[in-house]
Amino acid sequence: MTQPLISRRARSLSGAARVPGDKSISHRALMFGALAVGESLVEGLLEGEDVLCTAQAMRALGASVERLEDGRWRLFGRGVGGLSEPDDILDMGNSGTGARLVMGLVASHPFTSFFSGDASLRSRPMRRVTDPLSLIGARFVTREGGRLPLAVIGAADPVPVRYELPVASAQVKSAILLAGLNTPGETTVIEREATRDHTERMLTNLGAQVTVTPLGGGGREITLIGQPELTGRRMVVPGDPSSAAFPAVAALLVPGSEVRLTGVGVNPLRTGLYRTLIEMGADITEENHRDQAGEPVADLVIRHSPLTGIDVPAARAPSMIDEYPILAVAAACAHGTTRMDGLAELRVKESDRLAAMARGLAACGVSVEEEPDALVVHGRGRGPKGGTMIAAALDHRIAMAFLVLGMASEEAISIDDGATINTSFPGFSALMNGLGANIGNKDTP
Ligand code: S3P
Repeated sequence: MTQPLISRRARSLSGAARVPGDKSISHRALMFGALAVGESLVEGLLEGEDVLCTAQAMRALGASVERLEDGRWRLFGRGVGGLSEPDDILDMGNSGTGARLVMGLVASHPFTSFFSGDASLRSRPMRRVTDPLSLIGARFVTREGGRLPLAVIGAADPVPVRYELPVASAQVKSAILLAGLNTPGETTVIEREATRDHTERMLTNLGAQVTVTPLGGGGREITLIGQPELTGRRMVVPGDPSSAAFPAVAALLVPGSEVRLTGVGVNPLRTGLYRTLIEMGADITEENHRDQAGEPVADLVIRHSPLTGIDVPAARAPSMIDEYPILAVAAACAHGTTRMDGLAELRVKESDRLAAMARGLAACGVSVEEEPDALVVHGRGRGPKGGTMIAAALDHRIAMAFLVLGMASEEAISIDDGATINTSFPGFSALMNGLGANIGNKDTP
């Protein structure tokens, strides 16, 4: 069911909030708990639809996955190599991470499984994982263009690979490493630009041997020794910096705001947005730095700040790949021009985010230029006109970005469907309204 939402100009945002658990880490916690021997307890799990699809998939593959209470889940794993053939299609919903990583897991198990998902996921490219997983010995039957639905015929005798990623993608890196778990010998992935390293950190924490060697120019070579024994343990999921980005930018844009976001993951491979906003003049401070199950965590304090447009280098893209929609919103309200380069990957996310942002911002009265892999936004130093309805294109981050823009626009901004926000940020409207936003159902007068 579609859920049209409207966001009206907000007065000021204040107070403290805890954003939901990190999506990337939540998926991995369920997958790794399902492979570990013994009990794993996960705390702070994101209970968004994407992650619930992964929970269901891991059950279908034979693991015991049980929700104890809000965000607390208990798993009993099957041991590396112990997954069993699912008796139905694995429906991965809206989730590229869920689909691609689980495809990696089953690629080195000797059984056949079938994957599908929603209209957005069925349109996304899968060759980026089926190509390397074929080298390991898995076979695939896909729709035209390598798309879902697809069947994976797992390798009975998987062979380790050494593979250089053609695109900077933590999903592809992780799919290969996960296939390498049940493969004898050394699986190596080479990335020319470092991408989020949750797979490497978490597998190491559970007892796998993972070696990360820095390469010149910011790249890395990651080697996993196959067939480790993973031991179940407690995994604490930090708040998602990609979700925190929405209240953070809202606080920057709405005059008089000061917001504290507690327990947010600040892994340097995820925090490119915050670095960029600070370069634009944002007042953002990190307090109470701590380590939570191998991931750095802090409280973020964000105060309203006038922002100035800058050039965002392409090299920063992997560390803020999901944050360009909300950065484009900040840029629309900044003084001067912001140029964002290296955005080709945005075209194959939950929607073509480059086109969706350019179209939506223009409809709100912002001057924008869309290039094949760049976005240029000319800010006016204050919110745009707004007063329009945006097509969110089955994309949670497009939906949330325009609701934030509505808080700073002259006239309210509506989105045609906010239902997908539940994939990554359940309770988004309530959390934002608790801080002082004015988001409601479109029917609300
Ligand atoms: C993710 C990696 C990124 C990101 C996605 C989550 C992950 O995708 O956009 O939201 O958990 O590994 P790509 O690997 O396609 O860049």
